[in-house]
Amino acid sequence: MSAEIQLNDKIYWIGVNDRQTALFEELWPIPNGVAYNSYMILDDKVAVIDAVKDISMDRYLEKIRSLLADRRKIDYLIINHIEPDHSGGIKILREAFPDMEIVGNKKTLDLLTHFYGIKDNVRQVEDGEILDLGTCRLKFFLTPMVHWPETMMTYEETHKVLFSGDAFGGFGSLDDGIFDDELRDLQYHEAEMLRYFTNVIAKYSVMVQKAITKIKDLDIAMVASTHGPVWRSSPRHAIELYDKWSRQEAEDGVVIVYASMYGNTEKMMEAISRSLTAEMTGPLRVHNVSRSHPSYILADIWRYRAIVLGSPTYNMGLFPLMDHLLRLLENKGLKDRIVGIFGSYGWSGGAIKELTDFAGRMKWQLTEPVIEVNCSPTDEDLNNCTRLGMNIVQRLRT
Ligand SMILES: Cc1cc2nc3c(=O)[nH]c(=O)nc-3n(C[C@H](O)[C@H](O)[C@H](O)COP(=O)(O)O)c2cc1C
Ligand SMILES: [Fe+2]
Ligand SMILES: [Fe+2]
Repeated sequence: MSAEIQLNDKIYWIGVNDRQTALFEELWPIPNGVAYNSYMILDDKVAVIDAVKDISMDRYLEKIRSLLADRRKIDYLIINHIEPDHSGGIKILREAFPDMEIVGNKKTLDLLTHFYGIKDNVRQVEDGEILDLGTCRLKFFLTPMVHWPETMMTYEETHKVLFSGDAFGGFGSLDDGIFDDELRDLQYHEAEMLRYFTNVIAKYSVMVQKAITKIKDLDIAMVASTHGPVWRSSPRHAIELYDKWSRQEAEDGVVIVYASMYGNTEKMMEAISRSLTAEMTGPLRVHNVSRSHPSYILADIWRYRAIVLGSPTYNMGLFPLMDHLLRLLENKGLKDRIVGIFGSYGWSGGAIKELTDFAGRMKWQLTEPVIEVNCSPTDEDLNNCTRLGMNIVQRLRT
């Protein structure tokens, strides 16, 4: 059967691509879709690892039935993560295969009851426990809070495949292939991985670090997560990317994020960006908060070391979309960035104070001068913008 996608002699990819959902978690744009990876192990026992969202269930069941052929029975469904993008289809799957035992840790089984009312025919597993399928042996590693309390990873010892749940996952449907070595543009997939990490997982960076430490001595031939490519050529690379991002290690580069209703703050942004590009070595990314979705801004801010924030005063405070972005950043707890601040006001001001307070709360390295302009920037104000750019480059060099 040519439609089958095999990881090895026993394990098959049975995931589905979601090209319908506009916003992942009704929050993050996925113009390039997302894959819900699900896997099937055909051994003496049959196991499905992670299910899918309740879309395309017909096709999902069709794939399962075609692989099962005349065996007709699934023995186990292993749930590494019960967020509904992987469990929405469970009820339908259970109806189709009533004998299937659902396997998860205590927290998973509690949530299974609360979400779906399922209590029967379940098997609770502990950290380090092994489930023998015949040739394949599944070992469970509890890795809580990556990014839900019940998250765990399942390691298939014989073929050395790590089913890692959301960890090491990314946005983007799998169009040109499933495996890292099949994909035409791996950089694009890495960018979608960073966006998924920053949007969904990053708040739990400490727990990602704990999970990576827990699996560090495993001999891993493949990383098979619930979203994005299956890494068989360079499984360590996927882990290294998440390791770097969850350590909040930044690259040389600057992100300017600004708002401007009538062009005054924008003039300042242009003076800053010109002075930066004259001196800097890394990339410069400029985002207008009214035009770029926070999903993309967060990914850039996570990646680069210096952030320059500009906002006009709006109703005594920050421009609302800037306020929203800063709340997201604070919630995610991004540490150790160089920051510059600029903005314009008409009468009493307010935005600059909020930006400065934010930088203080985040304990970022505030770079002088902080530039607060009354209406349109004067030549002196623009010279200050140039100085700010130069001082940021100076800081980046140290
Ligand atoms: C809807 C609205 C609300 C504003 N609220 C304030 C305010 O509360 N305090 C203040 O000092 N300026 C306020 N301003 C003035 C702007 O901060 C000022 O015009 C600034 O130069 C705008 O910068 P921009 O051209 O980059 O948008 C407001 C302007 C608008 C359009
Ligand atoms: Fe999730
Ligand atoms: Fe997920």
